Amino acid sequence: MDNKSIKEGLHLLTTIVSVDNDGDNHLTYAQAVSALQAGEVVAFPTETVYGLGAVATNETAVAKIFQAKGRPSDNPLIVHIGEAEAVAQYAEHIPLVAQQCMEAFWPGALTLIVKAKPNIFATNVTAGLATVGIRMPNHPVALSLLQKTGLPIAAPSANRSGKPSPTKAEHVYHDLKGQIPLIIDGGATGIGLESTVLDVTQTPPIILRPGGVTKEMLQAVIGEVHEATLTDVKDAPRAPGMKYTHYSPEAPVYVTTLEDHTLQEMIIMHQTQHEKVALLAMSPTSLQADYVYDLGNSIDAMSIKLYDALRACDQTDATMIIVRAVPLQGVGTAIMNRLEKAAGGNRLIK
Ligand code: TXA
Ligand code: MG
Repeated sequence: MDNKSIKEGLHLLTTIVSVDNDGDNHLTYAQAVSALQAGEVVAFPTETVYGLGAVATNETAVAKIFQAKGRPSDNPLIVHIGEAEAVAQYAEHIPLVAQQCMEAFWPGALTLIVKAKPNIFATNVTAGLATVGIRMPNHPVALSLLQKTGLPIAAPSANRSGKPSPTKAEHVYHDLKGQIPLIIDGGATGIGLESTVLDVTQTPPIILRPGGVTKEMLQAVIGEVHEATLTDVKDAPRAPGMKYTHYSPEAPVYVTTLEDHTLQEMIIMHQTQHEKVALLAMSPTSLQADYVYDLGNSIDAMSIKLYDALRACDQTDATMIIVRAVPLQGVGTAIMNRLEKAAGGNRLIK
């Protein structure tokens, strides 16, 4: 092995271990817990996407997350906890709205940005910010791992930086093989999009990243909630991660609102210009393209399948990927947020 490979950490054997509901998973958890406690990184499933975890108080361990992902160091990580009460150990102040959100949505797909107690987390977890994002995930494997480890675990999505987040263990393996020692395979994730990031240090609270817990759901519990627009993010990125390109497959993505008849004409027109067209469409669809990926027949099904379909396009010779826009309601807001970023502003219009 050459020095470059060693330096880039390309020398690890990546093991995938499965956990299932029936089997005795004792040894798997023991292996993962000791790896984490020894300062290693471990990929594990959550109900949103797979995370790449390291003990959040261990600077060297956390540095391995950034290295494996190729993640910019100014993009802070979410800290995962196995018991809601633990938040009191890490937050300087827990506003009433945060308390209400935890009661209503934890465990679940909601990350709360709170003021961090100083000198607890490794500085690379918060990227030097005074705040920290904390989430208690709602997935049996994630919760067991967190509870058995008994420590806060920093975990971004377990993809190479810029790629769609992993919704299956095989996605993690594809992106990070050779870079990390262990992947816990708990099957496909149930939501398929990352958690909602809500900044509760502001009044009213601001959604920095839309996700599985929707604005409508939040407002029903805590009243007025603001939403960071893409322009806010460009001017003054509040969730530092939002300024980076994200969720991108190899071929350019185009979002479209064209109706079927016109869209089919456009697809054919691009094919005559030697494009290979992949179409991601909700079912049923009669549209034809070089590759057609079925995103299911509901918004929830679409969120589960979206990243898998974007990744599947990378396994083809598609030169353009077309996805139809969905209404900005409920989880549709989160889907459109990811699609707009994957498309980098590309629209398919007539
Ligand atoms: O569903 C999820 O949230 C997954 C699973 C693994 O839990 N994790 C995840 O992490 O998506 P990551 O690192 O890919 O996204 C975290 C987002 C980034 O946009 C980051 O900038 C933002 O949260 N963030 C983290 N800490 C923050 C802070 N203190 N202030 C503002 N934004 C923060
Ligand atoms: Mg991510």
